Amino acid sequence: MSSHPTTKTITIPSDASTLPMTLPRLMDQYRRGEKLVMVTAYDYPSARAAEAAGVDLVLVGDSGAMTVLGYDSTVPVSLDELMTLAKAVRRGLRSPFLVCDLPFGSYEVSDQQAVETAMRFAKEAGADAVKLEGCGEMAVARAKAIVQAGIPVMGHVGLTPQTATALGGYRAQAKDAGAALTLVAGAEALEAVGCFSVVLEAIPSVVAEAVVERLDIPTIGIGAGPSTSGQVLVFHDLLGIREGRGGKFVQRYADLQDAMDAGVRAYATDVRAKAYPGPEHEYAMDAHEVAVLQSALAELPAKL
Ligand code: KIV
Repeated sequence: MSSHPTTKTITIPSDASTLPMTLPRLMDQYRRGEKLVMVTAYDYPSARAAEAAGVDLVLVGDSGAMTVLGYDSTVPVSLDELMTLAKAVRRGLRSPFLVCDLPFGSYEVSDQQAVETAMRFAKEAGADAVKLEGCGEMAVARAKAIVQAGIPVMGHVGLTPQTATALGGYRAQAKDAGAALTLVAGAEALEAVGCFSVVLEAIPSVVAEAVVERLDIPTIGIGAGPSTSGQVLVFHDLLGIREGRGGKFVQRYADLQDAMDAGVRAYATDVRAKAYPGPEHEYAMDAHEVAVLQSALAELPAKL
């Protein structure tokens, strides 16, 4: 039997100066009309970037299935895979409020399954809240069960990538009045069962305005126009760590994929040209030790 302790510890960096974000502080910010800033993160460096930027919320999105794990969609990612990403993010964060996505297949079966999955995120990854997609009867019931178990829940309506196939692909939702009214009612249902916030993804701005107007909890927009209480973007989209542009709503703030490609290419060129490593990268050895080594090597029998 291993002598290593099996208890999981959550380490929080001590170098950040600001206080951890709490639900009451988020609500105060919302009531004061101050925009909430949320970004996704999937590992320690992206978490440290979010921390350094002073964002309010960090989402370990199941978009990590595509951005860091290379799947074609968010559907295949497993709970254990997302849990590993969430734990790495937790280790890099101190201040932002940490929300973790419930991956497809980890909450739909029953309220019990949903609560057990949410508990794992809270206990093992130190999540402050979980997010689940949808506002139909099942999603609302699961949100209610998790809230009643004591874990804050963020809803997610509009384009819900886990069910994108059923929605006709990655395209804007609620574009006719009937669908818009259904979405408004769904967002209200999520609020009624205790969700502390709702993500509005890829819907017309006018529909987002109606939701914002009718809810008394913060709305976080992504492709939902300017009226929402806050915004979220996928880390890799905003930093240009991807091929292609991403959604119409994406604003790029850097082109890191280009920088990464150029950096690795330059390294490969230097190695092939014998320009790297240079003298400045070498470890030296004491002259006496070199002499001892060389005479010992000279005594060694020839290799067969
Ligand atoms: O998984 C994700 O990144 C998300 C955001 C787009 C809100 O759900």
